[in-house]
Amino acid sequence: MSQVINDTNSKALQVHFLAEQAVKNHANKALFRQLKFAGQYKQAALVLEQNSLFIGLSFKPVAKNADPFCKVQWYEVGAKIANTLEGTKIKTIELTKPAGSFGAEDLQRLALGIMQAGWHYDKYLDNKKAKTKHYTIYLDSFMQKLAKDSLIKEIEALDDAMRLTRTIVNEPPEDLNPHTVAKLVEAEFKPFKNVIVKILGEQQLESLGMQGVMFVGRASRYQPRLVHVTLKPSGKVKNRICLIGKGITYDSGGLDIKTDQHMKTMKMDMAGGATMFGVAKALAQLGLKNTELHWLSAFAENMIGPDSYKADDVITTYSGQTVEVYNTDAEGRLTLADVLSYATTFKPDYIVDAATLTGAAIGAVSERFTALMGNDAKLIDSLLDTFRAEGEYTLYTPMPESLREEVAGDISDLINTSKLDRMAGHITAGLFLSHFVNQNNFRNPDIRLGKPQDYPWVHLDIAGSAFNNSKNGLETNGATGQSVRSLAAWVQQIDQD
Ligand code: BES
Ligand code: MN
Ligand code: ZN
Repeated sequence: MSQVINDTNSKALQVHFLAEQAVKNHANKALFRQLKFAGQYKQAALVLEQNSLFIGLSFKPVAKNADPFCKVQWYEVGAKIANTLEGTKIKTIELTKPAGSFGAEDLQRLALGIMQAGWHYDKYLDNKKAKTKHYTIYLDSFMQKLAKDSLIKEIEALDDAMRLTRTIVNEPPEDLNPHTVAKLVEAEFKPFKNVIVKILGEQQLESLGMQGVMFVGRASRYQPRLVHVTLKPSGKVKNRICLIGKGITYDSGGLDIKTDQHMKTMKMDMAGGATMFGVAKALAQLGLKNTELHWLSAFAENMIGPDSYKADDVITTYSGQTVEVYNTDAEGRLTLADVLSYATTFKPDYIVDAATLTGAAIGAVSERFTALMGNDAKLIDSLLDTFRAEGEYTLYTPMPESLREEVAGDISDLINTSKLDRMAGHITAGLFLSHFVNQNNFRNPDIRLGKPQDYPWVHLDIAGSAFNNSKNGLETNGATGQSVRSLAAWVQQIDQD
């Protein structure tokens, strides 16, 4: 694995960060002109004769605006370093002091960018073709002052967690199905004393009344599994958080089958579950003081066959609310409905879900961004702040009440598509989900423990941000691991308070 070493190494490739002005005054200025290196953000110049890599840092937004992403993102700078070195044999580098302000968190993002962009899903490649590089990252004296042991431990835990998330998102659907993923969860958490893993099988899901999960997963040779991982804090419980991830290990669309173009890459439809798996793994490694963390994901495969669920079926969800199926390809929200209402029975302070839920989210915010919605202004703001600080592209998406009637049913409480069809489909999907965190809607009296409550909840539609289909920007192809860093940091903040 890549590692950060709190020492210098003059033999290592020296990485220098330069802004425009420094490039103009540099002893290398003629060479830089030749290499068309002007010190702009996302420019790099590898000068092997000087054992140096020069990285540009000047960022000039074209328009004056308040977009918090209009600045140098250190994770991307790190990825630029690894991508520039791809194809060379170099894997020992030393980071040197950048001009301007630079803190420990910036170093963490920079190092993770290098480590993650150097990693590729190579499992099925011949060794000779495998591209993964494990970097040894040395630090100059300035950087060493930032790199406390705890920071290095955090970098390693996050690198490991993001690699886990990206690996399982990239795994082919036959390798990673509802049964294999459940076994992997058990194996990954086995070493941790404070972690409880509970796996519910099809009989238990049936008897709990989780028809959303069971209908969607019914036509698969691998029946659904509900994964429930609990992280116990070292001290008294002051906060309880439920993290929920969509876990469709393959989305063929079901009877409303996808076309070839849309089906390819649907192995990634469990990226929400994989994201929360990564977050839970990182936090298990780093430990929590007063926060009890629950990760819940229903893993199921949306397939076709004689056992397929059908458009026209009416499903009674765990909450008792009924949903008429209009399209078997809108399966994620049916599984999430059950899991969200199940999560409310633990009386959490916060519920956050991540899901590759709609193509509409990609249309609205692009393949780079996550669409963030929710029902609680304070929770929304605290998550947006963290995502922005981490440089993980996330845009707030309001859920207007005026669109709620679009998901209302005729012979049932709700429908699983919307009367607007795919228009604003990420928003109507969000509105659909919101019914399942508000216990006032629940019809099943058994799970309305005590006074019904509308739980603070945020929904992340990661359909675009979880997976790159093209070499898009600076990350690698396939699973990105985006959101793992921000969600882990957000839980840690709550654990501090
Ligand atoms: N998993 C897909 C959404 C998706 C699309 C994720 C592209 C990543 C990339 C989801 O289950 C789906 O099929 N959604 C439909 C919903 C529609 C039938 C209402 C969609 O977005 O088209
Ligand atoms: Mn689908
Ligand atoms: Zn799906």
